[in-house]
Amino acid sequence: MVTRDHLRQQYLEFFGQRGHAVVPSVSLVPENDPTTLFTGSGMQPMLPYLLGQPHPAGSRIVNSQRCFRAQDIDEVGDNRHTTFFEMLGNWSLSDYFKREQLSWLMELLADELGLKPDRLYVTVFAGNRRLGVPRDDESVQIWQEQFSRRGIEAPTVEDAEQTGLGQGRIFYYDQTKNWWSRAGGPDLMPVGEPGGPDSEVFFDFGEERGFHQRSSFADQPCHPNCDCGRFLEIGNSVFMEYRKQADGSIGELPQRNVDFGGGLERLAAVIDDDPDVFATDFFWPIITELENLSGQKYRAQPARHQPADHHSTEYHHTASFRVMADHVRAAVMLAGDGVFPGSKEQSYFSRRLVRRAIRHARMIGVKGDMFDRLVPVIVSMYSSLRPDLEDRSDQIVAELSEEEAKFRQALDKGLRLIDRLDRLDASTAFKLFESHGFPVELTQEIAQERGQQIDIDEFQVLRQAHADASRTASAGKFKGGLADQNSTTVKYHTATHLLHAALRDVLGDHVRQHGSNITDRRLRFDFSHPQPLTEQQLRRVEQQLNDWIEANLAVTRQEQPYRQAIDEGALAFFGDAYPPTVSVYTIGAGWTDSRTDRPWVSKELCGGPHVETTGRIGRLAITKEQSAGAGIRRLYMELT
Ligand code: ALA
Repeated sequence: MVTRDHLRQQYLEFFGQRGHAVVPSVSLVPENDPTTLFTGSGMQPMLPYLLGQPHPAGSRIVNSQRCFRAQDIDEVGDNRHTTFFEMLGNWSLSDYFKREQLSWLMELLADELGLKPDRLYVTVFAGNRRLGVPRDDESVQIWQEQFSRRGIEAPTVEDAEQTGLGQGRIFYYDQTKNWWSRAGGPDLMPVGEPGGPDSEVFFDFGEERGFHQRSSFADQPCHPNCDCGRFLEIGNSVFMEYRKQADGSIGELPQRNVDFGGGLERLAAVIDDDPDVFATDFFWPIITELENLSGQKYRAQPARHQPADHHSTEYHHTASFRVMADHVRAAVMLAGDGVFPGSKEQSYFSRRLVRRAIRHARMIGVKGDMFDRLVPVIVSMYSSLRPDLEDRSDQIVAELSEEEAKFRQALDKGLRLIDRLDRLDASTAFKLFESHGFPVELTQEIAQERGQQIDIDEFQVLRQAHADASRTASAGKFKGGLADQNSTTVKYHTATHLLHAALRDVLGDHVRQHGSNITDRRLRFDFSHPQPLTEQQLRRVEQQLNDWIEANLAVTRQEQPYRQAIDEGALAFFGDAYPPTVSVYTIGAGWTDSRTDRPWVSKELCGGPHVETTGRIGRLAITKEQSAGAGIRRLYMELT
C-alpha cells in the first residue's frame, strides 16, 4: 500500500525539481469569496494570479490543497466518491503550456509513480465552432509522442459514446466533458470567469474485472467517461486561456495558464491497483478502527474487485463503512478549519456529516461512542501534514462527541417513530427535524431506502412557516401589536427573483446571481457585473421591479427535468449541483412587457417558498450598491 505522506511528497518534489514553488494549502472555508461555502478545488485560491496578478512565489506553483465538495455527499458509498479530498495542483501562470504540462504528467505517472502506460487513457477537447475554440490537436500530438516513446501507439477516437473504446487511446469529447471553469462548461460561465479546454487522464482497472457487464450501462458501449467504474479519472490539465466576455462570447485571457488538478486519494488507489479508495492508506486506519468498534469486517467476502451491487446487503454494509469513514474524516478536517456542527451555512454540513455517520454506525452495530476513538486516529494520520490538529485534538473530540451524544438519543426516538409509520412525507420529515434534529437529507435517505420520497419543497415551506410563526410570536410579544401575516422573508425571496430578472433586462444577460442573503429587514444580492451601476441604471432596475410588483403577477411552481428547464431559459444558481428533476418557479407566465422579450418575467430553479402573487411584496427600494469582489456587485433592497 502506497503511504499517504510519501505519495504527496513525491508529487511536490517532482514539480519542485521542475522549478515550482511549493505553497501551503489554504483553509476549507474560503476567505473573501462570496460565491462558495467551501474550497472545492486547488484553483480557487489561485484565481487572482490566473487573471494576471503576479504571484509572490513566481510563475510556477505546486501544492496539495485540501478540498470539500458538499455536492458529493449523496454520492458517498461507492468505491470512489468522497466529500473531503486532497487535490494535487500545479500551475503555470503565463509560463509553460501544453508541451511541458503533458510531458511532465506522463513522466510523473509512468516513470516516477510506476503506473503502466498501457493502463492510461486520455481525453482532449473536440473543438467548437460556435465558441470559436479549435480542436486540441496540439495536445493530441504531445500525448501521441509520449505514448510512442513508451512503445504504445495512440490512435484517436471521435465519438466514443457511440462507438466505444475500440483500439483508441486518445478520446475527443465536447465542452460538456473537456472544458473546465468553476461554473462548469463555457455556457455556464459568468462574465469575467476564466476557463478553458482540458485534457483528462484515466486509469483502466481492466476489462477482465467485469465492471461494465455488471453495471446498469451494460447495454451501452464502454469508454473513458463511462460511469461503470472500469476507468477512474486521476488528473485534469486545464488550459486556462479564455474568459467569458460581457457580450457572452468566449474571449482570450491576457495570459495562458495551466491549472492541473489530481486526486491524491485516487492516485493512491491506482498505484495500489485497487479501485476502492477506501482501501488506501488515506482511509484504512479509519476502516480498521471501525472494524474494531463494530466487530465486523469491512470486506467480508473477497469482493475486492467486484463492482457494487447496490441492492445487496453486502453493499449496504460496505457503503455504511464508507459513509462513516468519509464523513468522520471530513468532519475532523472541517473542525480543523474552525467549522463545528451547527445550523447555519458551513456548520450545517458538519452537522449533516456527523449525524449521518451516527446513523450508519448504528446500522453496522457500533454500540458505544465512536468519535472519541476515531478523531485521534484521524489526527495522527495527518500529524505531519497538520501538526496543528494535534494541539486541538481534545477540543475536536469534545465538540464532535457532544454532537454525537445529543443526536444518539434523538436518533433512537426518531427511528422508533419512523418504524411506526407506513409512509414518510414532508410533514413527518419536519416533525423529525423539529423534535429529533434529523437533517431533512437524512430522513430523505431513510425514505429512499423504503422506496419513498420526501417533497423537499414542501418541507421547506413547513419549516419557513414554522420559523415565521415563532418570529411572529416573539415580535408580537415585544410590540404587543398585530404582526405581519405574510412572512417578510418570503417576500424578499420572491423579490430576489424579480431583481435578478430586472438586472438582466437593464444590464444584460451576463448578469448572474452569485449569492443572496435575506433577513427580515432587507435583502442582499450579489451578481456578476464588471463595473458599478450608474444612478440611472439603479433607478431603472428599481422601477422595473416595482412595476412587476404592481402588476400583481402570479408565481407558479412546476417540476421539470433539469435539462429541459435550462433549455427553456430557466436560470440556475451559479455553482450549485442539481438533481435530474428540479423545481422551477415562474413569475408572470404569459405576461409580456415592452422591456422584456420573453413570455414570462422570471423563471428560476428554486426550492421556494414564494408569495403567490407579486402584489403581496409591497414597494421596494435599493438602499446600497457596492463591490463584492472582482467582477461582482452587491445590492441591498428594503421594503419601504
Ligand atoms: N481546477 C481543475 C479541477 O478542479 C483542475 O478539475
